[in-house]
Amino acid sequence: MNSQSILVVDDEAKMRRLLEIMLTQLGYTVYQSEDGQQALSLLDQQNVDLVITDLRMPNISGIELLQRLRAQNNAVAVIVVTAYGTVETAVEAMKYGACDYIVRPFELEAVEAAVKRALKLSQVERQNRYLRAELDQGWGDFIGSSPAMQNIYTLIQQVAPTKTSVLIQGATGTGKELVARAIHQASPRANELFVAINCAAIPADILESELFGYAKGAFTGAHQDHIGKFELASGGTLFLDEITEMDMALQAKLLRVLQERSLERLGSHQTIPVDVRVIAASNRDPKQAIAEKRLREDLFYRLNVFAIELPTLQVRKQDILPLAHYFLKKHAAEFGYPSNGIDPEAENYLQAYDWPGNVRELENVMERAIVLSGGRSVQCDHFPLEICISQSDASVSQQHKDSAEIECKNGLNAEVEKLEKKLIRQALLQTHDNKAAAAQILKISERSLWYKIKKYF
Ligand SMILES: Nc1ncnc2c1ncn2[C@@H]1O[C@H](COP(=O)(O)OP(=O)(O)OP(=O)(O)O)[C@@H](O)[C@H]1O
Ligand SMILES: [Mg+2]
Repeated sequence: MNSQSILVVDDEAKMRRLLEIMLTQLGYTVYQSEDGQQALSLLDQQNVDLVITDLRMPNISGIELLQRLRAQNNAVAVIVVTAYGTVETAVEAMKYGACDYIVRPFELEAVEAAVKRALKLSQVERQNRYLRAELDQGWGDFIGSSPAMQNIYTLIQQVAPTKTSVLIQGATGTGKELVARAIHQASPRANELFVAINCAAIPADILESELFGYAKGAFTGAHQDHIGKFELASGGTLFLDEITEMDMALQAKLLRVLQERSLERLGSHQTIPVDVRVIAASNRDPKQAIAEKRLREDLFYRLNVFAIELPTLQVRKQDILPLAHYFLKKHAAEFGYPSNGIDPEAENYLQAYDWPGNVRELENVMERAIVLSGGRSVQCDHFPLEICISQSDASVSQQHKDSAEIECKNGLNAEVEKLEKKLIRQALLQTHDNKAAAAQILKISERSLWYKIKKYF
């Protein structure tokens, strides 16, 4: 028995019944709604893996339903149902985030193939990226005024008005996708689609058809024509994330499409012109990726017409605190907590840490801290262990050494407690949270370590 659930939205009871019979037969749990409004309230209460919706319905149409779901940041996979001859509307729906469409009258096999595909893709998506708020991540969303970032803003402004391909390189979490979106939004293509595809997240066997689409009958399971991301992005921007993870043979095909500005769907000989601006990104050094045969050299030269290299947080430490405060406010608002700032000592730790996961890691740390602090001022205790030790202790104690007077502003007991906490944290980190081993390092009994952990953390 398949435990995945599907919501069928259609104003015609017969259609709902037909899909219910088919989907139940395939082992899915089926919910039904008569219109978009009912669907939205059901989705509010119920976790559903996939929505299959008719496009033409009274009150809220299928497209409006999609728009409202996306506005609520609900990324549930949606398949739209369309009548034969109105496929354009279905393509329009895909621009609003539908992942596929099925054409009426449909057969069990077509429904099964579309549903399986949608569920597989949405599962991959869920696993590989946490629900990214499709907020308006335009210029205004860049935080950081370090010279290194100022340079990036200038590059974005220079390249945005052109149609030039861009290759963005940068360590994990440095903001590659944010830059790609900013280029799109500052470009004349801003009103068209920005279509992102993560080459590492999509299994190699699906990536080709995802990019270029396929014709009905191209392979087993291809029950109808399918438009690929390239065509979907026509007029707009295609973001090829983690390009070095794309199979070399597919890279060759991509290069051909870029050069010829046209493509053929898998299994079709019809040439379709495409007008796409391509932005690619990688966290690998492209030259090294070429040497390791992960990236075709000719494709590299085609994409690298304009290169942007994003700096790590380590080389722009002055951006750490503004980013931390920005994420604190953002997530406090999301969780409905007040935001009461960050304790100065905790700020020191944030600044001293070397942030191997860059801005993404900082964002996650602040999100967790706001939850743990419950809206009170954020303290070191709200950070993961590794942040509160590292070189920061060196820098903090250096500050103490530098001042001739002993600082004891909180009184002896509080200062001793602080030191105790720090040593306990260090011991736990060193022993990967093994309490017995940590107690040994601290030369106290395991029981008193437990007592202190309960008291302090
Ligand atoms: N300068 C910045 N100002 C504000 N937010 C930022 C900045 N840089 C990155 N972010 C945020 O940090 C997170 C990570 O950024 P993004 O996804 O663009 O990084 P990436 O380089 O593509 O990461 P990965 O290599 O992991 O895919 C996102 O939530 C993004 O909005
Ligand atoms: Mg990315």
